[in-house]
Amino acid sequence: MNPVKTGLLGLGTVGGGTVNVLTRNAQEIARRAGRGIVVTHASARDLEKPRICDIGNIRLTTDPMEVVNDPDIAIVVELIGGDTLAFDLVMQAIANGKHVVTANKALIAKNGNEIFAAAQRQGVMVAFEAAVAGGIPIIKAIREGLAGNRIEWLAGIINGTGNFILTEMRDKGRDFADVLKEAQQLGYAEADPTFDVEGIDAAHKLTILAAIAFGIPLQFDKVYTEGISAITGGDVSYAEQLGYRIKHLGIARQTERGVELRVHPTLIPERRLIANVDGVMNAVLVQADAVGPTLYYGAGAGADPTASAVVADLVDVVRALTSDPENRVPHLAFQPDALADLPILPMEQVETACYLRMRAADRPGVLAEVTRILGDQGISIEAMLQKEPPTEEEGATIIMLTQKVVEKNMNRAIEQIQSLDPILSNVTRIRMESLG
Ligand code: HSE
Repeated sequence: MNPVKTGLLGLGTVGGGTVNVLTRNAQEIARRAGRGIVVTHASARDLEKPRICDIGNIRLTTDPMEVVNDPDIAIVVELIGGDTLAFDLVMQAIANGKHVVTANKALIAKNGNEIFAAAQRQGVMVAFEAAVAGGIPIIKAIREGLAGNRIEWLAGIINGTGNFILTEMRDKGRDFADVLKEAQQLGYAEADPTFDVEGIDAAHKLTILAAIAFGIPLQFDKVYTEGISAITGGDVSYAEQLGYRIKHLGIARQTERGVELRVHPTLIPERRLIANVDGVMNAVLVQADAVGPTLYYGAGAGADPTASAVVADLVDVVRALTSDPENRVPHLAFQPDALADLPILPMEQVETACYLRMRAADRPGVLAEVTRILGDQGISIEAMLQKEPPTEEEGATIIMLTQKVVEKNMNRAIEQIQSLDPILSNVTRIRMESLG
């Protein structure tokens, strides 16, 4: 049988990696898919730029729409990122009756509902394994491997750049800005690195994971998102002294009151496997009713790891080319007419334990005032550390771990503590999860 012809939009890190993996493993891939898969047409912004792959016989253009409209192409692989041009290209590919593979998390998180509805009408597939956690086959694991389960919650380290920064701060005492610069040079960071450090990239990925885990529509705008830029080396080391690691987690949980969707720095007990996922690596911990906890670990970014996910999607699409569209694996794991309209819980109603750090004038009665405010809000203290003031003006650093508290009560308590005269700094709050 003739090989399936594929068009690539974007020939950067992931595009180059995809050509390399398709070439290097051509025989294995054909044995798995039942047909060869070849790239015949590709677009790149700058045709003169050096590439990590051999272009061979691939026809090149600077116009991605030319690839999308190429009648010989059966599958379009979108690797240009962003959600404006990429959206137009993907919608046009679908309108042209082509299947789509994409690594674009922003596009799926923000426009996925519309894209999948269009694909459904046209009877084409849109595959997006590479959009979440790079090379880890987490979409397939949740959508297919865990299809017999009711998924209760998942928690993931789903941004490699953020994890690299927190790891370097802990291991080497390095400065936030300095590590971020290195992550950019290594090619891990997003085009706009605030997407990494402010949790937007993780929120895109969490939106996708929650949809396929719980059978709900994609709802990026409902994710509570907090970044890691306010975390200090002090927080990392105080957490360690108390037996915790700080990780930037994406958490999705089904509760009786609604679905929690949140990305924020989180203290987790250091004995948990996921607390020991370091550097640029990603991991997703899934708690499901039948299987219990399962943990998925691997490279979340980079040319070959992300290409691994793109090529796996290509193989899936090729295998399903001749199947009846009604009998394919649904885009969002659940049948499109069976998606549930579960409420998303406002952050104010979410309940977590907390780490609090503040600086206070070192004089009698200050701690009593702080603990009275916490007590009035029904907040119980679990552990406490006090560090001697380096100078009298700087005050003593107080760290408290609380038991679980509803976010609204903690917000009120923080506001009142900050208004106390002897409290010399804002209160830093980092939520805690036991993940047990
Ligand atoms: N900027 C992302 C990360 C790349 O650091 O994880 C993969 O999505």
